[in-house]
Amino acid sequence: MSAIWEDPIGNAKEEFEREQEKKLASQKVEAQQEISLEHQSSQNASLEVDASEGNTGLENIEMGASRIQVDDKKIINCRADLNQLVPFKYKWAWDKYLSACNNHWMPQEINMTADIALWKSADGLTEDERMVVERNLGFFSTADSLVANNLVLAVYKHITNPECRQYLLRQAFEEAIHTHAYQYCIESLGLDEGRLFNMYREIPSVATKAEWALPFTQSLGDIKFRTGSFENDQRLLRDLIAFYVVFEGIFFYVGFTQILSMGRRNKMTGVAEQFQYILRDESMHMNFGIDVINQIKIENPHLWTEEFKADMIKLILTGVDLETKYAYDTMPRGILGLNAPMFEQYLQYIANRRFAQIGLPEHFKNVENPFPWMSEILDLKKEKNFFETRVTEYQTGGALNW
Ligand SMILES: [Fe+2]
Ligand SMILES: [Fe+2]
Repeated sequence: MSAIWEDPIGNAKEEFEREQEKKLASQKVEAQQEISLEHQSSQNASLEVDASEGNTGLENIEMGASRIQVDDKKIINCRADLNQLVPFKYKWAWDKYLSACNNHWMPQEINMTADIALWKSADGLTEDERMVVERNLGFFSTADSLVANNLVLAVYKHITNPECRQYLLRQAFEEAIHTHAYQYCIESLGLDEGRLFNMYREIPSVATKAEWALPFTQSLGDIKFRTGSFENDQRLLRDLIAFYVVFEGIFFYVGFTQILSMGRRNKMTGVAEQFQYILRDESMHMNFGIDVINQIKIENPHLWTEEFKADMIKLILTGVDLETKYAYDTMPRGILGLNAPMFEQYLQYIANRRFAQIGLPEHFKNVENPFPWMSEILDLKKEKNFFETRVTEYQTGGALNW
């Protein structure tokens, strides 16, 4: 519409409309510029990740790149293609993966009816025995989720070797099965789920163990954390020791022994059987972790300084203290011929073994194992055939009803 000078209102309106159109057009241009800038910066960001990480397995595939050789493989800080499982370098990791798969089990396969009847009967268990069952289910039900999260969100990223990652994936699934097993026990016995799953926030001796472990898992999960420097490689090694040697290698042992002792006395046999399978898995997790730790030491001897060794001894001893407190807290009076001082001795015995396994001197003098029967269950020579009968049962069981 053309402007008519005699029509001031119409003129003003038209001018206003023109101004509005101009404004809109310039806003549109600005918005488009912003979008393209954003796009550019997100592209730059993804390029940055590609360039700086080099160990995720998600790097661009390079056509015609040379084939992976065994010598290219490294346990940490490897820059070779992580999508190629073979040729194997760390046979121990692959063997553990195969053994773990042979040991497959599911919580629902274990009969819980005797446990349910015993738990519900008025005089089947003492109050102290009930407390032991509840505290352990409370601790483990969340501890295994913590372990799984640490594995998937932290450890996995920094262990730059495909055969080790294959085992870590298997371990992660086993942790899911363990959490499932604890939940299954809690549900079968009709326990207060809210109370048990919150024990790691509400019961001091349960909470302190989880609290102690969290900083070690969080530092590796920090998105800015990268290995490749002396400090960070040492930090990774420290966190792996905290995680595999202390958390999985010490913090689980009072609870496992208490529940397995009950099973040996024919009490809570279903729960005890679940714990027995879990203990098998856990001892392999810990042994895998120890192999990883020792391999990192072999490939990076400069990390294993005298100062670092002294720090690791302190770290493991703190773990022993916390687990000893847990023994006293869960067993103030002793049950089934067991008492807290026996556990204190057992933890010293275990700690000596852990020290030796990672090449540190034994700390406690002349400590005998007060629970030799636990060694029978844990005897690594039986690692491979322990489940032989179980595997057969598993494959013909209801789970494979096609
Ligand atoms: Fe576990
Ligand atoms: Fe584990």
